[in-house]
Amino acid sequence: MFALPPVHAGTPATAPLPQMGFNNWNSTRCGPEFDETMMKGIVDKIVSLGLRDAGYRYVNLDDCWADWQRDGNGNLYANPQRFPHGIKAVADYVHAHGLKFGLYSSAGTYTCQPHVENRGFPGGLGRERQDAAFFASVGADYLKYDNCNNQGVDARQRYTAMSEALRATGRPIFYSVCEWGQNQPWLWAGRPPVGANSWRTTRDIRDNYPSMLGIFKQNVVLDAYASPGHWNDPDMLEIGNGGMSTTEYRSQFNLWSIMAAPLLIGTDLRKVAPADLQILLNKEVIAIDQDPLGRQGKLVRDSDGVDVIVKPLEDGGIAVVLFNETDGEQPVAVAARELGLRKQTYTVRNLWTHAEAQGDGSLQARLPAHASDLYRISM
Ligand code: GLA
Repeated sequence: MFALPPVHAGTPATAPLPQMGFNNWNSTRCGPEFDETMMKGIVDKIVSLGLRDAGYRYVNLDDCWADWQRDGNGNLYANPQRFPHGIKAVADYVHAHGLKFGLYSSAGTYTCQPHVENRGFPGGLGRERQDAAFFASVGADYLKYDNCNNQGVDARQRYTAMSEALRATGRPIFYSVCEWGQNQPWLWAGRPPVGANSWRTTRDIRDNYPSMLGIFKQNVVLDAYASPGHWNDPDMLEIGNGGMSTTEYRSQFNLWSIMAAPLLIGTDLRKVAPADLQILLNKEVIAIDQDPLGRQGKLVRDSDGVDVIVKPLEDGGIAVVLFNETDGEQPVAVAARELGLRKQTYTVRNLWTHAEAQGDGSLQARLPAHASDLYRISM
């Protein structure tokens, strides 16, 4: 059986590297196809397509997994139409395939999706202990905790309450804060008493280039706040959902990886196209995202629509993204010293063509509109 890496002690959970996995939201929203059959099919695909072995571990359910009311004891339970065998059956299926299971709730009285008569699905505000105990009891390894219907209660207070409740369960549960960057969570969410593993830095991503670009620009300047186990989260991947070109999807993967962002697949893997799967499976790019040094790349140039981002790596090398955000082709040239390279001899590897060359003092590329290149430079 596939072995999971050892669990690392943390506050409140678990993983020193940015989370990788799947979440249904970007492909299904609350549509009827979001159900047990789909989620089991996704698990099967994560294994058979080689995604598990590439590092994608979490299988996360988003909003609308729950029934719209609590049971007689005040406990959450799964929507019986979508999950007729209950939520633990899904978690067990996920675990039996060597993967980890994630659930969703909101630090408010209801989650974000209206259901009937303007009532949403029950949220965790004021119910933190009971709900955290429920998450642990079904075997959840991950909680995405949203921000809707928060009744104006202070964010730190709300996210601390759930953090403490998760810790009290004794189960390591990855804690993903989702307050959309409203209260500058990069300043507090990663630290005690919240100790979140990641925090969303922006509003929701959409499956189009301007949305992806805008989110990248908001997130890339927050590099100082990311560290192992505590990551900026510019929202999930749209790769495969059809609203962007292959070039643009590749740019999302390059940019998210150099920003040490969570890599959460948001497309229905049961019908993923080969070109999109090839992006998601580029192990050399994934290795940049997952580099053990745990640094988010830094923007070293942002001019004339060209962005240059540099990420230090554990082996003493660096990763570099050159990104042409404009609507026309552009030549890009970057001197080695602009990348912080002091050594005369180094090798440059293009992580998409896999071509390797000796460094000659500069990086040069002709980038089509919206295209990017990702290089690994080793001394
Ligand atoms: C918010 C979150 C999204 C998603 C939806 C679900 O908008 O930011 O990521 O979870 O709620 O309703």
